[in-house]
Amino acid sequence: MAAVMRLVNRSTLKPKMGHQCLAFSCSAAVAKAVGGSASKNLPERVKIVEVGPRDGLQNEKTIVPAETKIHLIDMLSDSGLPVIEATSFVSPKWVPQMADQVEVMKGISRKPGVSYPVLTPNLKGFQAAVKAGATEVAIFGAASELFSKKNINCSVDESLQRFEEVMKAAKEANVPVRGYVSCVLGCPYEGKVAPGKVAHVAKRLYSMGCYEISLGDTIGVGTPGGMTEMLEAVSREVPVSALAVHCHDTYGQALANILIALQMGISVVDSSVAGLGGCPYAQGASGNVATEDVVYMMHGLGIHTGVDLSKLMDAGAFICRSLNRKTNSKVAQATCKL
Ligand code: HMG
Ligand code: MG
Repeated sequence: MAAVMRLVNRSTLKPKMGHQCLAFSCSAAVAKAVGGSASKNLPERVKIVEVGPRDGLQNEKTIVPAETKIHLIDMLSDSGLPVIEATSFVSPKWVPQMADQVEVMKGISRKPGVSYPVLTPNLKGFQAAVKAGATEVAIFGAASELFSKKNINCSVDESLQRFEEVMKAAKEANVPVRGYVSCVLGCPYEGKVAPGKVAHVAKRLYSMGCYEISLGDTIGVGTPGGMTEMLEAVSREVPVSALAVHCHDTYGQALANILIALQMGISVVDSSVAGLGGCPYAQGASGNVATEDVVYMMHGLGIHTGVDLSKLMDAGAFICRSLNRKTNSKVAQATCKL
């Protein structure tokens, strides 16, 4: 391995034209050199759900202009990402950063084949989303009572009732619905969360018609051990083909946790460009795992993502420049240094 790395460093990774050229080398050559073909326990393809424009930007202290969000979303779709969570139709009093949702939805250039889901906590949000042109939505519940109360101001059971209303309207409008379960590996208010509770909420969302259930480690405390235990419990209730993982990287465990999920048959991974993000109602939670790092790992494993890492890194560089901050992507940091 050391010899391979030396070879890669000397020949393939020499920057010629800034990071664009380098990133291209990363996706093709480095992945081949340090990776290999996917083992039998890994999927051949992984769908990456980019949540940066929503999960990333909802947590910014300052309001990011709509035109910056629109440009970011367009750059992300140009990189080959199949799903880009664009914004939220939540209360502007609760999350002022998403108050420009209609402008964002109307401003983006929709690329054929790309989905642009939006968060809708209730019927009011769903109706506003559809009016603004959303063709896919996500409802978001939690496996923790206190987090549910802090985040959407109702108990877990009440939230499920609200989601039934959204689901009924979505079925009538033929709009696919994704379901989130937050705090699957720990809660900022309750601490440990029992895998059985996660499985219960995931099952309810799946039974009401969500086509995919994204399991959120909202505060990034999970380890591969906890991930395995939780996924074993959930996959007894929901088929793994309908599961996704959504790992915040607060404790630096996200890639390891994702690898466990892949080995357990999951092939949908949420991530955020430049590792942006957090949840305004889960203090201290850092961003999602960086999409650049996920793509790099997938390509190294020989897993197809359809994402052009070079273009993705351009999108990451753009949003970091706009926010005047350093990227949280290790891949972007590493290549910048070379
Ligand atoms: P509430 O205050 O209980 O709502 O908030 P309400 O029904 O009592 O209504 C109060 C006011 O809000 C009314 O306006 C409503 O019209 C308005 P007023 O009469 O006072 O002027 N309202 C709305 N406005 C716009 N859009 C709506 C809407 N609904 C009501 N949809 C509510 C309940 C759910 C609305 C609120 O708690 C909320 O918006 N919460 C969203 C919080 C949020 O966005 N959190 C971050 C996303 S979740 C996340 O990040 C986790 C995830 O990434 C996965 C993971 O990491 O685990 C998904
Ligand atoms: Mg999140």
